[in-house]
Amino acid sequence: SLQRTFIMVKPDGVKRGLIGEIIKRFEQKGFTLLNAELMTIDRSKAEYHYMEHQEKPFFGELVDFITSGPVFAMAWEGENVIEVSRLMIGKTDPSEAMPGTIRGDFAAAKEENVIHGSDSLLSAEREIENFFGLLKRRSLEDDF
Ligand code: CMP
Repeated sequence: SLQRTFIMVKPDGVKRGLIGEIIKRFEQKGFTLLNAELMTIDRSKAEYHYMEHQEKPFFGELVDFITSGPVFAMAWEGENVIEVSRLMIGKTDPSEAMPGTIRGDFAAAKEENVIHGSDSLLSAEREIENFFGLLKRRSLEDDF
């Protein structure tokens, strides 16, 4: 079904100049970019984004890292984009991520793994709203 997902190039990916490469892969796959912004996020936005990891021992470091420099936040739309984008991104731990995936090709450590992608419909909606506010409803009939 037609879905939206939240994709974010993390501070390590921005510093390494991977924004263009990542946009290119999503465009080549045929997904539609709905919104994008380079931004440095505060701790409250980061904590809300990572709420499901609140109890993890690495939560503090995760928030430190994601607020350490600019991220490139994006909303993408397409058929089954949530699941397909996670296949394109690859496993969390880059040592297990397949070559050809974004993490398999570009990441070296699980703490700094270049990119985030929503893991469910519910988290996609929450994450898009956290970063962009309520997204204008855009459908294929809209001319833009
Ligand atoms: P992601 O799946 O995008 O969101 C949760 C992140 O937590 C995950 O990527 C990793 O980057 C990070 N993470 C997982 N395990 C650890 C860990 N042991 N220490 C620090 N960060 C971690």
